[in-house]
Amino acid sequence: LLVVVAQQVAAVRRGESLSATLPAVDTAMRPAVQALTFHVMRRLGAAQAARALLAPKAPPPEVDALLVTALALAWPGAAPPPYAVHTLVDQAVAAMRRQRPAAAGFVNAVLRRFTRETEAIAAQAVAASPQARFNHPTWWIERVRRDWPQPAPAVLDAADAHPPMTLRVNPRRTTVDAARARLAAAGLPTHAAPHPGAPHALTLLGAAPVHALPGFAQGELSVQDAAAQRAAPLLVAGGAIGAPLRAGARVLDACAAPGGKTAQLLELADLDLLAIDHDAARLPRVHHTLDRLGLRAEVRAADAVEPAAWWDGRPFDAVLLDAPCTASGIVRRHPDVRWLRRPGDVARLAARQRALLAALWPLVAPGGRLLYATCSVFRAEGQDVIDAFLQREAGAGAVADPASPGHLLPLPENPADPASPGAPAGDGFFLSLLHKPRLA
Ligand SMILES: C[S@@+](CC[C@H](N)C(=O)[O-])C[C@H]1O[C@@H](n2cnc3c(N)ncnc32)[C@H](O)[C@@H]1O
Repeated sequence: LLVVVAQQVAAVRRGESLSATLPAVDTAMRPAVQALTFHVMRRLGAAQAARALLAPKAPPPEVDALLVTALALAWPGAAPPPYAVHTLVDQAVAAMRRQRPAAAGFVNAVLRRFTRETEAIAAQAVAASPQARFNHPTWWIERVRRDWPQPAPAVLDAADAHPPMTLRVNPRRTTVDAARARLAAAGLPTHAAPHPGAPHALTLLGAAPVHALPGFAQGELSVQDAAAQRAAPLLVAGGAIGAPLRAGARVLDACAAPGGKTAQLLELADLDLLAIDHDAARLPRVHHTLDRLGLRAEVRAADAVEPAAWWDGRPFDAVLLDAPCTASGIVRRHPDVRWLRRPGDVARLAARQRALLAALWPLVAPGGRLLYATCSVFRAEGQDVIDAFLQREAGAGAVADPASPGHLLPLPENPADPASPGAPAGDGFFLSLLHKPRLA
């Protein structure tokens, strides 16, 4: 097991995503490998700093991957290490003896010293750099500090916590109260506090596989974070200055796969909905989701930046642009993301977001609206995109709805939501609802 986890860690360090590598792991082993690899990702900065202290000259990549994996799994802290430390050391040394006998003595010496002097070495490692303290690359830490000076430490630490499992109740099939009662009867109690802006969200106190959720197969429930659940109700209701969408309203979901928000839009209203995504390989998941929930939309592979290739010229009453982004708001669910991104990705993705917004705005009907969303905590992918857009469109009268939440940080006491004490933290998200003026 330890060797497979170290291979996953080595893959991330080479730039491969765990979403791509984990599916190749043997199914029986996969849940354990995933849990342990995620654990390592959340302590990788500290483990790398400890390795540098214990062995200043970096060993070959596969030896280093095994060492940092073992160090991260043995790391002291609030969460008990998932392995008994002596078992961990024995297994790491045995694995090295099989793979690279010449390195076994070195691995043994490094890990035994760490077990003898754990507290001192851990303290020294964490003090060595912000990367070791926060388990994020330095450029990411600096960006979060610049964007969110006061809550930066909490935002960074939130990425190392286990995310809650939040469900979305399908109001076409059941009610929130009935779903809550049914879950409780199945031994799956939920948090009592409501999620602001996400009236159909229920967060489990624990976690459960989806097949164990009563009503899941029948389309009563979906799995979706509480912050992500705020997009569809906002677009359908129209915020503070728009009217709710009428039945049959024409709606575009421009970056639809895997279809979580497409489905939620259709759960909330009877819409004439076109769902597109440029990645045809992701569309079967949209179909699968809609089928399970008993919903219908037109689903097509199309590039949202090139409407000339697919748009029939009929304007949309509402557009959802859930744009591709760094995913810096969902690192607690994808803890490898922080190690995979490069600093230049932010500007590159922000340019794509601006291009998508510019390409889709002309498709919005006069008096219609567009909801811009990203699962990022970086201002460059949120408010900065909207500010630049509004400046360009000022003459044409585009306005941001005052009820737009803007940046939502992945914190329980969200500054954007002072009215929500007790609600479990949602992911980091950005939502801005833009209105197009009616024709004079
Ligand atoms: C954040 S995900 C969307 C998640 C989805 N809205 C949901 O709630 O399940 C972004 C999606 O945008 C798609 N995408 C990226 N660039 C695109 C483009 N130019 N045109 C259409 N889709 C695009 C990606 O393939 C990806 O599926």
